[in-house]
Amino acid sequence: MQIRIEPLTNPRPVEFPPELGFGRYFTNRMFTQRYSPDDGWHDAAIVAYQPLALDPASHVLHCGQDVFEGIKAYPRPQSGASFFRIDQNVARFNHSATRMGMPVIDPELHIEAIEQLVRMERDWIPNQPGSALYIRPVMLATEKTLEVRASRTFMHFVILSPVGPYFGSGLAPVPVFISHDYVRAMRGGTGEAKTIANYAGSIFVTEEARARGFQQVLWLDAVERRYVEEVGGMNIAFVYDGKQVRTPALSGSILPGVTRESILQLAPDLGFEATEDRIDVHEMLADIESGRITEAFAMGTGAVISLVGRFGYKEKEYVINDNRTGPVAQRLFEALTDIQYGRVADPYGWTRNISVDAVDSAQSVARA
Ligand SMILES: Cc1ncc(COP(=O)(O)O)c(C=O)c1O
Repeated sequence: MQIRIEPLTNPRPVEFPPELGFGRYFTNRMFTQRYSPDDGWHDAAIVAYQPLALDPASHVLHCGQDVFEGIKAYPRPQSGASFFRIDQNVARFNHSATRMGMPVIDPELHIEAIEQLVRMERDWIPNQPGSALYIRPVMLATEKTLEVRASRTFMHFVILSPVGPYFGSGLAPVPVFISHDYVRAMRGGTGEAKTIANYAGSIFVTEEARARGFQQVLWLDAVERRYVEEVGGMNIAFVYDGKQVRTPALSGSILPGVTRESILQLAPDLGFEATEDRIDVHEMLADIESGRITEAFAMGTGAVISLVGRFGYKEKEYVINDNRTGPVAQRLFEALTDIQYGRVADPYGWTRNISVDAVDSAQSVARA
């Protein structure tokens, strides 16, 4: 891919505040390219981070054709940085795009563009404990039209954000509200795609839950409002009897998380049983009350693993493991982050090292 590089006229100095938070700070540059039916993807460039110029009639503002991803580059003391399962994210980006009637991007070219951007922005890779460089690719519909049909033109951009842990509290358990009145996604809808409408519809419910002292919302299936789906921007798992990790099977309305899939692979290798099936919320809550469920945790790129300390459902509270961090989630968190941060060898081939020394050479990419 031929990427035009625009010089920076006024780069901001690299500075990390003591509290990085999540997605609050952005680097000096961004990647952009455009799509039209005649030219396909074209005009690939790395330019100064800047506002987008969008026509008020741009399709995305009226019909919402927009997909995005969330990937992390983890700091490496020797070699600069390492992507975690970036191939899965670019594949999911294309699945989301197809579901939303948008064009796909050649996966290798997509990764190459991200690598080039990360190499140029290497000084922004934070190395405080638990931190990483978060990568946000977005594709949006730019055609000037109010017609309800696929846009003919699109823009793809990638921005980078040095981030700390998603929940500043690390592995400390968070309270989660189980929504009965509102749903996130239904089978046959867009829940499997990472598209903005899924998130827009969840905000009001999450704000209501926050006002009631909860941090996140657990969604149930849209038809029976009975089967557990996922939590906010994360998948969910329950630990039974301290040894079985159980997560809802992908139903068609759940986002297939990369972290979820990694935990499902990792758990048996650590001696835990891993199962995917339908989880009835009433049985799940009864299993918390009887003590069979010993831990509950959410999984996603932002927080990696986040413990649930208690659920609220229809005015009743269900406390798990005395609101304390549990050993299985702790073990899985350590094993996964050890691989992500390169503290142990990666037997799964999940990490892809980026050599950040040779800034301009795509040849310098070494695959781990
Ligand atoms: C709705 C939803 N579910 C689950 C996840 C977890 O996916 P991943 O592990 O790929 O970050 C995310 C984050 O992308 C999400 O937005």
